[in-house]
Amino acid sequence: MCIIIELANLYLINGSKTQNYRLPHLSLLSIRRHKSYTFTSIMNKKIVTLDEFIIRRQKEHDDATGSLSRLLRDIGIASKIINREVNKAGLVNILGVEGSENSTGDMVQKLDIFANEKIIEFLSMSGECAAIVSEENEDIVKLPAVNGKKANYVLVMDPLDGSSNIDVNVSVGTIFGIYKRKSEFDREIEIEDCIQAGLELVASGYVLYGTSTILVYTTGHGVNGFTLDPSIGEFCLSHSDMKIPASGNYYSVNQGYYLKFDLEMRRYIDHCSDLNLRLRYIGSMVSDIHRILFQGGIFLYPNTRKYPHGKLRLLYECNPMAMIVEQAGGKAITCGLERILAVPVSNIHQKVTIAIGSPDMVDEMKKFVERYSAVNA
Ligand code: AHG
Repeated sequence: MCIIIELANLYLINGSKTQNYRLPHLSLLSIRRHKSYTFTSIMNKKIVTLDEFIIRRQKEHDDATGSLSRLLRDIGIASKIINREVNKAGLVNILGVEGSENSTGDMVQKLDIFANEKIIEFLSMSGECAAIVSEENEDIVKLPAVNGKKANYVLVMDPLDGSSNIDVNVSVGTIFGIYKRKSEFDREIEIEDCIQAGLELVASGYVLYGTSTILVYTTGHGVNGFTLDPSIGEFCLSHSDMKIPASGNYYSVNQGYYLKFDLEMRRYIDHCSDLNLRLRYIGSMVSDIHRILFQGGIFLYPNTRKYPHGKLRLLYECNPMAMIVEQAGGKAITCGLERILAVPVSNIHQKVTIAIGSPDMVDEMKKFVERYSAVNA
């Protein structure tokens, strides 16, 4: 009986093709009542963990060395550690405020700094990553060779996006992208190895620490999502081959800046409002785009007077999210109508404007820009 309930509480996989069989909070009785999930059908399903999925995918590529797979697995483990700390954030008054000592004598850190250090620390030991570009570090962080082995990959990341949400118990996320270094292995890694357009990404993903924790990633062959089952401490395949709806009912923008937006953006936002679209803005790009990936919609961060080039970072926020959304069938462009993934990168903390989400909605926004920026000119 325990086995059945345990299995039923996970997302169940039929062979290699995932069915989104989500059976939360099941009792044995409710399993019996649920005609389509008989004992035999449940026992025949197999849970696919993130590690297993990554290994399976690696085997599909004859030339794969396993290095990218190991790096992805390491990111999965690091995100479990971050998840544990994010979940404890509400205990901050018990454990101590930032800058104070906690009960074990350690200094209490801001969670975004903690997440940054954990990922760097973890990847330093793995030997699969040569350098990290992080929102939290002014310069690139060069990682040492492990056992004399020089690494082939560069990680770009926002370790904890939307960190202002933490204090109020609202979702935050980690965004990551992986590039191959440009220079030869025997050369010391340099900043030039990290300055690459989004089109060069070999993998990207995000982890959303929400009502449940979900890791979504792509290596350029579709998008798959894995939900963390806290009872076994594993990310389990829950959403295979994710596809974004062509259109949706949501738009996501900080409408408080409305008067600071250019005319074309104001007209497009008026249009969304005229259509009675639902405005949702969490203030964490990962969370807002995650909703749109599932339910359809558009996320916008245009230029304002305060942020003439937009606020979000191209290399480690917009590019990885653009790769995910494009792989799911969506679109991502700047408010100047350039494809995000093709925007040339000139510095690691470069900012960019963004419109991202359902393809039909991004196309529609594009028409507003074409029409009203001509009026402005
Ligand atoms: P931060 O990680 O500093 O909290 O920034 C979050 C980012 C992004 O995730 C979010 O969409 C945007 O900034 C929110 O900015 P505004 O508060 O200007 O709307």
